[in-house]
Amino acid sequence: MIKLAPSILGADFGHLEEEIKKTDESGCDWIHLDIMDGHLVPNISFGPAIIKYVRSKSDLFLDSHLMISNPEKYLEVYAEAGSDLIVIHYEIEHDKIPLLKKIRKLGKKAGISINPHTPFEAVEDIIEYCDLILIMTVHPGFAGQKFMRQVVPKIRQAREFIDSNNLDIEIEVDGGVSLKTAQKVIDAGADILVAGSAFYKSGDYSEFTQKMKELAGKS
Ligand code: DX5
Ligand code: ZN
Repeated sequence: MIKLAPSILGADFGHLEEEIKKTDESGCDWIHLDIMDGHLVPNISFGPAIIKYVRSKSDLFLDSHLMISNPEKYLEVYAEAGSDLIVIHYEIEHDKIPLLKKIRKLGKKAGISINPHTPFEAVEDIIEYCDLILIMTVHPGFAGQKFMRQVVPKIRQAREFIDSNNLDIEIEVDGGVSLKTAQKVIDAGADILVAGSAFYKSGDYSEFTQKMKELAGKS
């Protein structure tokens, strides 16, 4: 069954408590938290205090997507704030394996994210240290960008690699996922869909979630 992870970055932060409540009650599966440092990506979002706040308002699985250059400094902080999964970027300049091991040591699931222009082969050797691969279908930094359909073959490639090697690794897809683009992502083999703008601009979060699940049923 496909999981839906709304990205809280698309929510109305002026009414965050209500937004979290409505997200929680929508029937979605996870909450996706986009942490940006203005260095690895050209935007700054929020930090651990928001994760802590979301944690205090929802029991949903919290998926922290760290778009930061120096995750090694902050892994404990993001773990303690209440993340269930911590995803780091392949594109950072540090060794990824020790970081992934550390995330697991902290008792959290570990994920690696790859940008649209990073080939899947780049992570083949480190994927065994991951519980999840996050495939970006926009250049990370902002919500509301156009889905890059040229990334779809990479999702399929990841699915084939994981299945043929019998690996227990989930595939999450993030960026521009909407009711219009989701079918391609689902058919290519994604397990988790992140939706920011499409979810929060839908007006009815439960209906959006239900429609997404119906699309998944069609594949
Ligand atoms: C982009 C973020 C995404 C984004 C999703 O850097 O990682 O999670 O918030 O938003 P939409 O669905 O609007 O592309
Ligand atoms: Zn994200």
